[in-house]
Amino acid sequence: ALVSLRQLLDHAAEHGYGIPAFNVNNLEQVQAIMEAAHETDSPVIMQASAGARKYAGEGFLKHLIQAAVESYPHLPVVMHQDHGQSPKICQGAIDLGFSSVMMDGSLEADGKTIADYEYNVDVTRQVVQMAHKLGITVEGELGCLGSLETMQGDKEDGHGAEGTLSMEQLLTDPEQAADFVRQTQLDALAIAIGTSHGAYKFSRKPTGDILSIKRIKEIHARLPNTHLVMHGSSSVPQELLAEIRAFGGDMKETYGVPVEEIQEAIKYGVRKINIDTDIRLAMTAAIRRFLAENPAKFDPREYLKPAKQAAKEICLQRYQEFGTAGHG
Ligand code: G3H
Ligand code: 13P
Ligand code: NA
Ligand code: ZN
Repeated sequence: ALVSLRQLLDHAAEHGYGIPAFNVNNLEQVQAIMEAAHETDSPVIMQASAGARKYAGEGFLKHLIQAAVESYPHLPVVMHQDHGQSPKICQGAIDLGFSSVMMDGSLEADGKTIADYEYNVDVTRQVVQMAHKLGITVEGELGCLGSLETMQGDKEDGHGAEGTLSMEQLLTDPEQAADFVRQTQLDALAIAIGTSHGAYKFSRKPTGDILSIKRIKEIHARLPNTHLVMHGSSSVPQELLAEIRAFGGDMKETYGVPVEEIQEAIKYGVRKINIDTDIRLAMTAAIRRFLAENPAKFDPREYLKPAKQAAKEICLQRYQEFGTAGHG
């Protein structure tokens, strides 16, 4: 059944586990997530970005997720809008039938300019007021995703702060977080701790100076009852990079967020863990391999089948690793 995000996160907090939130853009990704959730008995969070809505079309995305809900009636499914850039976009998602929205007021509506704190409070509060009347959950974001190595904001997905950022911008302040939650009454808070979107997060396996689990602990100590969200949480498996390279791809050396760091974060209030890139890498690796090994094949079903399987394996692993399995 379609459920609110709040319902799942409350249960996860009570039982001390985390839930991966996978981005979806097409049929095979939706199927992969549902098959993995079914096999592990896991609750599901599927999220669609503005880019996803543009790629698939709103109606197609809505009905893909509805088909997932109908096909697996025993599993709870959240249909979440990822990175809403304005109250208007969030309203649109609510009208479309989403059960949860993210109002990302850390940036202005252009998706590039770092917003004032007052602006963030104002737009997030507006969305909470309209959403809560309808039983819809709201995720907000405080702080700027970006690299503590280069002090640059997100670049890869064309959404992220421009220019050089300060340490204060790249790490969410616990006191400000407490004020933000109090003023907005949001359900889940996305925080900045040194992660960024896409494949190129870290130039080496991250240590505490560039991925601050310590900051999560400080925020959790100040806000023990707030559900925290980690964006940019793909682990960027080295085997997938190697497979992509082995079959003609060009990917530079890069490192993601190690699963064991996420597991530590789950002990300190992180309940929703956003993952898009790992599924992209898995599908690309599988398709590259298939086409290289089967140069005469041309039926898309033949290469989308291993791509779906590879996406499913990522989902199966994360459901097990985050303790989600068994809670569907
Ligand atoms: O926000 C980041 C997610 O990975 C979605 O990416 O905007 O390319 O769909 P996207
Ligand atoms: P990744 O790019 O690390 O998968 O992060 C996805 C995300 O945060 C979507 O909001
Ligand atoms: Na989100
Ligand atoms: Zn994100």
